[in-house]
Amino acid sequence: MLKKKQFVWKRKNLLGLRNLSREEIEHILNTAEGFEQITSRAIKKAPALQGKVVVNLFFEDSTRTRNSFAIAANRLSADVVEFTQKNSSVSKGETLLDTAKNLEAMGSDIVIIRHNAGGTPKFLSKNINSCVVNAGDGFCEHPTQALLDVYTIWKIKGSLDGLKIAIVGDIAHSRVARSDIYAMTKLGAEVILIAPPTLMPPAVEKLGVRVSYSLDEVMEELDVINMLRIQFERLGANPFPSVKEYSHSFGLTVDRMKRAKKDIIVMHPGPINRGLEIESEVADGPNSVILQQVTNGITIRMAVLFLVNQAAMTREKIKIKKESLA
Ligand code: NCD
Repeated sequence: MLKKKQFVWKRKNLLGLRNLSREEIEHILNTAEGFEQITSRAIKKAPALQGKVVVNLFFEDSTRTRNSFAIAANRLSADVVEFTQKNSSVSKGETLLDTAKNLEAMGSDIVIIRHNAGGTPKFLSKNINSCVVNAGDGFCEHPTQALLDVYTIWKIKGSLDGLKIAIVGDIAHSRVARSDIYAMTKLGAEVILIAPPTLMPPAVEKLGVRVSYSLDEVMEELDVINMLRIQFERLGANPFPSVKEYSHSFGLTVDRMKRAKKDIIVMHPGPINRGLEIESEVADGPNSVILQQVTNGITIRMAVLFLVNQAAMTREKIKIKKESLA
């Protein structure tokens, strides 16, 4: 009998999910599941990243993503360096690249980057040797958020194949929506984007999704609903007449939930604006998995850090072997 070929992870960077295969995404989910037993132990530590330096390089505010990466790196025994734009020499005019190169000169192995400019993680990956992990770049991608989203659904439903998943709200400014679309469609779900026309990006159907401008029209069909925050900090002109008007048409209310499937999964990447995109009773209700998403974020990020480091070490070994043969 032929031995089943084992999947080998080869990426030393995680820049986005757009170019990842279904097999690669599933490999991350399986790796994360393997890490779950560490998180449930009394001593939540494994030595996988012992002696490695992980830098949290955040140029934008963050509560969940930043702390989740820090906890994930700590659980794998890495040394974690926290960088914030405030209190750094960026305020004196130092560039992003100089900042990253200086951190690398201090021995960074993995750089986790969040930046308001799309493409920053890719730019960094081309210019430094450390592994680069995208923690959110502009409107482009937020791969670990989408991975924890699909992981949460996968753990509950067993598979995403054939599920109807709505992503509702400010699609236009959401990097979460983009990464979610790539991950969910690759795993076989039907994705329905729901937003007012002013918050729907043009030609988005090209990504293989369905588009709707009415939440009421699709509410009964949904297996999963992912509510997004209105990214007020990124908006220019007002995209809708009033916040009340928006909530009325696109908010996840107790009333709307009465029309949903009994086992609908309610998600939100956070931070929540209670009473705007989602009513508190729904956010804290029995269908909500919002805090489960946060918990799962740790194992997903452990998996990502573990895999990129493994790929970097394999490359290093191959390089050394080649050099010794030369
Ligand atoms: C999101 C982000 O920053 O892109 N939050 C997160 O990482 N959990 C979404 C948001 O800010 O609304």
